[in-house]
Amino acid sequence: MKYKKIKGTNDLFGEDVWYWRFVENTFREVCESFGMEEIRTPIFEQTELFIRSVGEESDIVQKEMYTFQDKAGRSITLRPEGTAPVVRAFLENSLVNRGFQQRYYYIGQMFRYEKPQSGRLRQFHQVGFEIIGSESPKADFEMILAVDIFLKRLGLRKYSIHLNSIGCPECRKQYREVLKEYYKQYLDELCEDCKRRYERNVLRLLDCKEDQKFALNAPKSVDYLCDNCKKHYEKLKEYLNTFEIEYVEDHTLVRGLDYYTRTVFEVRHEGLGAQNSIAGGGRYDGLFSELGGSSIPALGFAAGIERLVLALKSEGIEVPVENVHYLYVATIGERAFKEGVSLAIDLRKKGFRVDMDIMERKLSGQLKHANRMGARYVIIIGDEELEKGIVILRDLETGDQVEVDRQFAVEYISERVLE
Ligand code: HAM
Repeated sequence: MKYKKIKGTNDLFGEDVWYWRFVENTFREVCESFGMEEIRTPIFEQTELFIRSVGEESDIVQKEMYTFQDKAGRSITLRPEGTAPVVRAFLENSLVNRGFQQRYYYIGQMFRYEKPQSGRLRQFHQVGFEIIGSESPKADFEMILAVDIFLKRLGLRKYSIHLNSIGCPECRKQYREVLKEYYKQYLDELCEDCKRRYERNVLRLLDCKEDQKFALNAPKSVDYLCDNCKKHYEKLKEYLNTFEIEYVEDHTLVRGLDYYTRTVFEVRHEGLGAQNSIAGGGRYDGLFSELGGSSIPALGFAAGIERLVLALKSEGIEVPVENVHYLYVATIGERAFKEGVSLAIDLRKKGFRVDMDIMERKLSGQLKHANRMGARYVIIIGDEELEKGIVILRDLETGDQVEVDRQFAVEYISERVLE
């Protein structure tokens, strides 16, 4: 084959599509049950937006962005994540006028130039939401509650929610110094990335896979929180405990995007191997002002659809397949075809999935095809049926067939199929 898909992208068809639809539909239902509304932003943005938000020193900006110049010489980037575009859209459209709080959810593709492997793609898809305007730990709680309900509604069980607080810019100043002091002794042993990050973004050393051994005994950010940040974190945990949402406190959790303040969390799944993070998020109280708006507290989360589907499959969870009421109208001859079309139109109006021959096949070919496509019932119309004013309804599973008066065919077939 001459053309191949781009490395790190996927084609989706067949059974996989049902998994994806199940994830997307469940996500929509849960978000809407939490009073969220959908937001759709463009797939590309000015490059500067991501540099300012995700952070100059982050892996995403350093190594992973799909950046190009358009024909007018502007620097454009395919979105690597969804939060910065939502904040940009919020500011640009003056959504602030709608009052607070506001909750938006989104579903869409993201792009990161990472090394592809199972659960890690270059074009991947996220479901996510952002809650804008609240500084209260009640908002952090609602966020984690919604994520937990979503994962449970999917049927997932083998996941854990990792939680940490990395404080506000004020208390982080001190923590950063303490952390630098601690890592100083290991400076020669650190990986190249961490050596570079040591000066500019020392918190990221905590979640480096290669240098994990040093992180275990590192000072914890929760021990250096200012009073307000500490109260915020304690209150969030109190709410989580009250509603019995299980979480693990994880002091090495800092997240790879620079905009976070206070609460950060990540959901990991047992069945996924190296790319076990199925969702992540947190609070980003400084991002609106960083992007030129007023100071608006906000928080949010995103989960990778590819990873959610892997998690569902690893737990053996089956998803609803929606072609149970798939019918096939087989016709012989021109007159019968026209009769078939009008019957198909009526059945489609009733909500059935109805297919019919457009390949000029003989009856046997049509039946074979219907079988292969998974139709349970076939409706057959030929000259004889037209003469008698009937159609034949054949059950492909049992081989039984009945003659149905054409006049009552739609009602009869509907009842019979839905039985
Ligand atoms: P993130 O942790 O970078 O956070 O991504 C969220 C999720 O997207 C990950 O947990 C993972 O499931 C999925 N994901 C990330 N990269 C890939 C990849 N290369 N291939 C497949 N799946 C991937 C964010 O993007 C933040 N915007 C989340 C957020 C929203 N924070 C606040 N609001």
